[in-house]
Formats: sequence, C-alpha cells, structure tokens
Amino acid sequence: MSEKTNSGEKHQISKKNRSSSFPIRHLFYIFVATTITFTQQKYNKIMRIQIINGPNLNLLGIREPEIYGKRAWTDYLKELRQRFPKVRIDYYQSNLEGEIINKIQEVGFDRDGIILNAGAYTHTSIAILDALKSVSTPTVEVHISNVYQREDFRRRSIISPGCIGFVGGFGLDSYRLAIEALIDKAAESHTEE
Ligand code: DQA
Repeated sequence: MSEKTNSGEKHQISKKNRSSSFPIRHLFYIFVATTITFTQQKYNKIMRIQIINGPNLNLLGIREPEIYGKRAWTDYLKELRQRFPKVRIDYYQSNLEGEIINKIQEVGFDRDGIILNAGAYTHTSIAILDALKSVSTPTVEVHISNVYQREDFRRRSIISPGCIGFVGGFGLDSYRLAIEALIDKAAESHTEE
C-alpha cells in the first residue's frame, strides 16, 4: 500500500514538472515557426501573376496563323507554367470588355502582376484604361504581333498609360518576356525594402 502511495506521489511530481516546463517550450516552438514562415513569405514568396487575354485570343493557333502563329494557347500556357515553377500563373480570357474590367478589378489588388493582352480593345477602350488605373497591381501590356508594323489604327494604345511597360512583336514569347519583367521588378522592390 505504501509502495502504491510512493509511486503515486512520484507520478504526481513528474506530472507537475512537465506542466510547468511545457508552456515555455511550446511558446518557443511557436516563435520559431512564425519566424520561419515570415522569412519564407518575404524572401521565398510564390509570385502570383494573372494573364488576361481579350477578344479573339481564344482562337490562338487557328486565327490568322501567319500573324499569331499556329501554336495552341493551352499548350503554350503549360510550357510557361513548367518554365516558372515558382510563379503561380492564373489565366483568364474573355471576348467581352466588361468581363475583362471585372477581372482586372477582382485581381488588381492581390496579384503580384497582371499581363494583359487586350486584343482590339487595346486601341479603343478607355474603360479598360480606367480599370487599370483604379487598381494597385502592376500591369504589363502584351501583344503577340508587332502592332507598330501593322495598320495605323493598331499603332495607338489607349491602355498603355495604365501599364508599367509594353512587350510586343515576339509572338507568344512576348508573354514569357513579360513574366521575366515582372519577376525582375518584384526582386528590385524587395532589395529596395
Ligand atoms: C494583338 C494586336 C491587336 O491589334 C489585335 O486586335 C489583337 C491581337 C496582338 O496580340 O498582337 O487581337 O493584341
């Protein structure tokens, strides 16, 4: 009986010791985990880029192949995602001006960059320009063809003042170059911080 009591006491003492040291250890683990998470977010953050394609760009590979190429978009997008494993590339296409504006408003405050090929709306849409100016995410204007080598009406971009830069004339590779530009820009702003 006394043996039982002794072991019972021992058990109680060791439990007491454990409960007093546990919370400090626990706090230490939380501190380490939080520090690691913040560091990863700051220096190793997965970038999130939104590609938006405007009217008729759903027909890439079929539409005027002598100007826009024969390659299917889905195939190219897959290659882009493989090429930039540290970038999350979201894709959206619409033939409708209002839907493009809705998308810009939806993503324009939390993505790291937008790549916008507004198609023919490039040359006409004050509403898309206003949407770009209303959001904080930097946008790169992209064109597959060299619009300056084509008809006069394509030489004027209404949306350019809402964009940080322009890439055009390199075929589908224009999108890759725009991603590279956004990655460089993000790295620059990290070093400035
Ligand atoms: C385009 C050029 C525009 O002028 C045209 O209306 C398009 C495609 C390009 O990617 O080259 O639809 O944006």
